[in-house]
Amino acid sequence: MGKIILTGDRPTGRLHLGHYVGSLKERVRLQNSGEFEKIFIMIADAQALTDNFDNPEKIRENIIEVALDYLAAGLDPEKVNIFIQSQVQELTEFTFYYMNMVTLARLERNPTVKQEIVLRNFENSLPMGFLTYPVSQTADITAFKADTVPVGEDQLPMLEQAREIVRKFNFTYNTDVLVEPEALIPQNETCRRLPGTDGKAKMSKSLGNCIYLADTEEDVQKKVMSMFTDPDHLKVSDPGKLEGNTVFTYLDAFCKDEYFAEYCPDYSTLDEMKAHYQRGGLGDVKVKRFLNSVLQEELAPIRERRAKWQQDIPGVYEILKKGTEVARAEAKTTLEDMKRAMKINYFEDGALMQSHIDKYAK
Ligand code: TRP
Repeated sequence: MGKIILTGDRPTGRLHLGHYVGSLKERVRLQNSGEFEKIFIMIADAQALTDNFDNPEKIRENIIEVALDYLAAGLDPEKVNIFIQSQVQELTEFTFYYMNMVTLARLERNPTVKQEIVLRNFENSLPMGFLTYPVSQTADITAFKADTVPVGEDQLPMLEQAREIVRKFNFTYNTDVLVEPEALIPQNETCRRLPGTDGKAKMSKSLGNCIYLADTEEDVQKKVMSMFTDPDHLKVSDPGKLEGNTVFTYLDAFCKDEYFAEYCPDYSTLDEMKAHYQRGGLGDVKVKRFLNSVLQEELAPIRERRAKWQQDIPGVYEILKKGTEVARAEAKTTLEDMKRAMKINYFEDGALMQSHIDKYAK
């Protein structure tokens, strides 16, 4: 059997550079690698509703934004199947049975969910749907028999959870219908968790520290020029620190040596530039200008593709609709396999009725 990918994003806002380096870029590479038989990319609206149940309008509006960002980033609907989670209703059925394979204590230990609970002030009013979203995420992955799940680092606990549920299910029902998935996280460490432009640990819409894929050239420039650097680097001649210096962190994630010749010929590698900064004599503005050029170079083709798709919204809807049909067919097949393994396929199991006939035969 060929390798299968499933991954996705919650449609709670436009996608930003953190999504791009953490996952989207990798998906585009994987899609073009020819190593995968099927690739499913899911817009996780049902999961987004677990903490936005009172604001469905927000999710509704952002589905198209995420779809546009996907296409803009270079995902190719000929090679990947983009679909909307809530429209594949089989997924909820998987979730229902997987709930039996996990304890409350186990769910409460999930470090990502724990953090998210605090962030959302859910400590005293935790919706069950939110606490159990890792179970529904297991459904997303296993319904497509995905073995590879490219995600950001924060999703590792979900994958661990999925693997446990799969093992427990296969063991309990003495079957191998479910496939144990592996996470695929970016090799470049800075790409795993890109900080916000303010230097805070994570790009996050609520912190207002994101550079979005759909930002204009001017927006990007403005955000780069006001980025957090080394607060002690006051004069150009002062030695500068690289640790926690967001501008250099972004360069670690995006810079290629060939950009120097074009945009900053004083150096030929990032290491040379860093060394000069540490020695003193290299000003933040110069580094920021260089980063801006690098980002504009990366974002220009994305912006162009987005502009094109924005003029073909019916085409985008068609992609989502087709993708959802394909996904549903796939999930339905796995669901039937799963229910057969659980022996809850009463009407297609002729031997069952026969055994009951025999039981009461005089
Ligand atoms: N939890 C993921 C996120 O917040 C989205 C997601 C939902 C997902 N289901 C998934 C990711 C299945 C990978 C696999 O970005």
